[in-house]
Amino acid sequence: MFKYLKLFLIAASIVTIAASSIPFPQEGEKFENLKVLPKDITDEQLDSVMDHFKTSLDVKCSFCHAGGPVIDGKKHLDFVSDAKPEKLRAREMIQMTNYLNETFFNPDHSSRPDTIHEVICYTCHRGTKEPEAEMLFLEVDSIMRIQHQRK
Ligand code: HEC
Ligand code: HEC
Repeated sequence: MFKYLKLFLIAASIVTIAASSIPFPQEGEKFENLKVLPKDITDEQLDSVMDHFKTSLDVKCSFCHAGGPVIDGKKHLDFVSDAKPEKLRAREMIQMTNYLNETFFNPDHSSRPDTIHEVICYTCHRGTKEPEAEMLFLEVDSIMRIQHQRK
C-alpha cells in the first residue's frame, strides 16, 4: 500500500511541478546528455522523474546507469554515460510515452505536451522490468483468449 501511495505522490508531484513551471527560467544547461527530457529541467524535476523510473520498474539507478569512478572507496555512477543498453531502451520508452500523451491524450493541443501524464511508465510496468500482458492483466488475457477461440 505504501508503495502505491509513494508512487501516486511521485506522479502527482511530476504533474504539479511540470504544470507550475511554465514559462521556465533559462538557467543554462545543467545536465550534459539529455536527449529526450526537457533541457530546462530542474534538479528536483529530474530527481522526481528518475524516482518514478526506479519505482515503476522496481530497479536501482544502476539498472540504467553505468558504473563510474570510485572516490574515497565509494562507488559512483556515471549518469552522463550512454554505455548501458537499458538506458537507451529507457530513452525510447520516454519517447513512446511522450508520443502516446501528445497524440492521444491532448485534445486541447497543449503547447507543452510534455506536461501531460495520462500515460506514465507505471501504467504498463507496475513494478516490473519486463511487463507481460498475460501476467499483469488477467482480464486482458481472458479477452484475448475469447477472441482467439472465436477465430
Ligand atoms: C529505467 C532507466 C533509468 C533509471 C532506473 C534511472 N535513470 Fe537516470 N536517466 C535515464 C535516462 C534514459 C536518462 C537520459 C534522459 C534523456 O536522454 O533525456 C537519464 C538521465 C539521468 C541524469 C542526467 C545525466 C546528464 O547529465 O545527462 C541523472 C543525473 C540521472 N539520470 C540520475 C538518476 C538517478 C539518481 C537514478 C536513481 C534514483 C536514476 N537516474 C535512475 C534512465 C534511468
Ligand atoms: C505502453 C506500455 C509501456 C510504457 C508506457 C512503458 N513501457 Fe517500458 N516496457 C514495456 C514492455 C512491454 C517492455 C518489455 C519488452 C520486452 O520484453 O522486450 C518494456 C521494457 C522496458 C525496458 C527494458 C527492460 C529490460 O529488462 O531490459 C526499460 C528500461 C523500460 N521499459 C523503461 C520504461 C520507462 C522508463 C518508461 C516510462 C518513460 C516505460 N518503460 C514506459 C512497456 C511499456
